[in-house]
Amino acid sequence: MRITYYGHACFGLEIAGKHLLFDPFITPNPLAQGVVDINSIPADYLLLSHAHEDHIADAVAIAKRTGAKVIGVYEVVMWMNKQGIENIHPMNTGGAWEFEFGKVKLIPAVHSSSFPDGTYGGNPVGFLIKSNEGKNVYYAGDTALTAEMQILGEYNAIHVAILPIGDNFTMGIQDAVVAAELLKCTKVVGVHYDTFDLIKIDKEKAIETFKKAGKELILIPIGESREL
Ligand code: NI
Ligand code: MN
Repeated sequence: MRITYYGHACFGLEIAGKHLLFDPFITPNPLAQGVVDINSIPADYLLLSHAHEDHIADAVAIAKRTGAKVIGVYEVVMWMNKQGIENIHPMNTGGAWEFEFGKVKLIPAVHSSSFPDGTYGGNPVGFLIKSNEGKNVYYAGDTALTAEMQILGEYNAIHVAILPIGDNFTMGIQDAVVAAELLKCTKVVGVHYDTFDLIKIDKEKAIETFKKAGKELILIPIGESREL
């Protein structure tokens, strides 16, 4: 399984030859300028965690270009449908569905969710992906530390957790370490940091904090890939 980081909370996962793209926020992201080109990002599936601008900014453009199937909560997916996207798969919290790359389950996130124009975006979610390659990935989306993570860790072997670490709008580093403990997961990919002044972090200190807890925090430079 390969991960490519596109900045903020946007990343691609390549699973069993299929490209999954999450939460595209590239053209408005100053850190991604000149590094990532939205016209060359591959996507067979587009997964959207919630309706906030910093998770859907380039969703319509990428869905139109690639024809990717859009997966997310009902309200977000139907909003995409209204923008002319027809390849959709609406779901809701707690529900799971078997796709050709594996099973996707929508996990509750503790956050908010409205579209840039203020309209209701349904409940925010994270995604648990049980890949056909045998590795389970949990992307928490934007969320606080929640007891939900204990349930996930209790009943699923999570190979890698993709967690927000920027604080202010989501969990910060200390809570992300606790999340990793609840998830019983030693490998964490950090997202949702450094994009704005309010979520700037000390990367070395963050990595050290995870290390002291016996965990690995992977911070991938924008535009680069890692094998997970
Ligand atoms: Ni958000
Ligand atoms: Mn966000």
